[in-house]
Amino acid sequence: MSPAPSDVVVVGIGADGWDGLSPAAQQAVSRSRVLMGSRRQLDLVPGEFERVAWPSPLVPALPELFEKYRDVCVLASGDPMFHGIGTTLVRLLGERVTVIPHPSSVSLACARLGWALNEVEVVSLVARSIDLLRPVLTPGRRVLVLGGDPAAVAEVVGADGQIVVLEQLGGSAERVYPWSGQDSDPLCVIAVEYRGSALSRVPGLPDDAYESDGQLTKREVRAISLSRLAPLPGQLLWDVGSGSGSIAIEWARTHPTCRVIAIEQSAERAERIAGNAASLGVPGVEVHIGRAPDALEGLEKPDAIFVGGGVTVPGVMQACWDALASGGRLVVNAVTLESEAVVAQWYARLGGDLVRIAVNRGSAVGKFTGWRPHMPVTTWSVTK
Ligand SMILES: C[S@@+](CC[C@H](N)C(=O)[O-])C[C@H]1O[C@@H](n2cnc3c(N)ncnc32)[C@H](O)[C@@H]1O
Repeated sequence: MSPAPSDVVVVGIGADGWDGLSPAAQQAVSRSRVLMGSRRQLDLVPGEFERVAWPSPLVPALPELFEKYRDVCVLASGDPMFHGIGTTLVRLLGERVTVIPHPSSVSLACARLGWALNEVEVVSLVARSIDLLRPVLTPGRRVLVLGGDPAAVAEVVGADGQIVVLEQLGGSAERVYPWSGQDSDPLCVIAVEYRGSALSRVPGLPDDAYESDGQLTKREVRAISLSRLAPLPGQLLWDVGSGSGSIAIEWARTHPTCRVIAIEQSAERAERIAGNAASLGVPGVEVHIGRAPDALEGLEKPDAIFVGGGVTVPGVMQACWDALASGGRLVVNAVTLESEAVVAQWYARLGGDLVRIAVNRGSAVGKFTGWRPHMPVTTWSVTK
């Protein structure tokens, strides 16, 4: 028998507990038979229920829990659809779920600080790396950090920012104070106003933004290559022969939902890619150590592929082309005659665009200035 629609109501609750719920939310809670949530949340609600505290780890346990229980009220903090359990439950249970939101901690923080909610950047660090904070720290930008530790945030922000901690928002123990090293309640939002310098998200970062052994696509060529790869939010790139990881990293920096798998045969370089990704604020770059084409087998199919190494290795180009879905973009950079010959064959077969990039950088020649040429790069791009 299929379950009755909407037998799971997800109710947002704040630090003000039961008294802070709207009459509609209180009624929805009272009509339920089973109450689920964290221990702390379960204690906020009076009445007779079967109370089920979240197990750990939570997500893998959810299907069984909701198979077993019906007429459930799930307590979630703030707005359940904002970095909350509501989204996970809707994905899992579909129409069984009704959501009743409460103001999120971010709305409350903006109210206390007098900040426009639509202008702040929000970063959730719940079970995620502190490095994610790096790309959002730009001059004058206001940032709210969820699930963070003020000391760790202060270390990333450095001397060029001000940090305000907002604890227990909406509850009787609410406290808002400029942070200067004191212990804080873990239930807090951290507000950051940053005044320091920052790197743009537009591709073509300075070469010295990367640790490298010289295997680095240079700034100007990188910018052109990324414009051909044309990253869009949510899309996945394979960076084949990732070297120092610059293409992978700049793809990921264009939007927080962009994903990358960097494939690199050298373990030493792979480690460097991970280090560069962390310091440039995209720790989610997935690094696979291995040699293409074998290393490409079984990977999630990408929306775009960049081949910066291994062009002449038999099977690499074919494996990349085969992996792309219709509409996917393939961009290949060739520097040697041998890799150009492979590119020429593929261009003859599939068409696309060929661009030859000859970069000359001005630099000192004695007390004058002259042009120093880089090796020309042939960029072939094609859409499947
Ligand atoms: C020129 S570098 C790429 C530079 C990179 N785009 C960047 O900006 O950092 C080429 C890289 O491809 C790697 N490589 C070459 N053949 C490969 C293959 N078949 N599979 C995986 N990596 C390969 C090399 O180890 C080298 O690190």
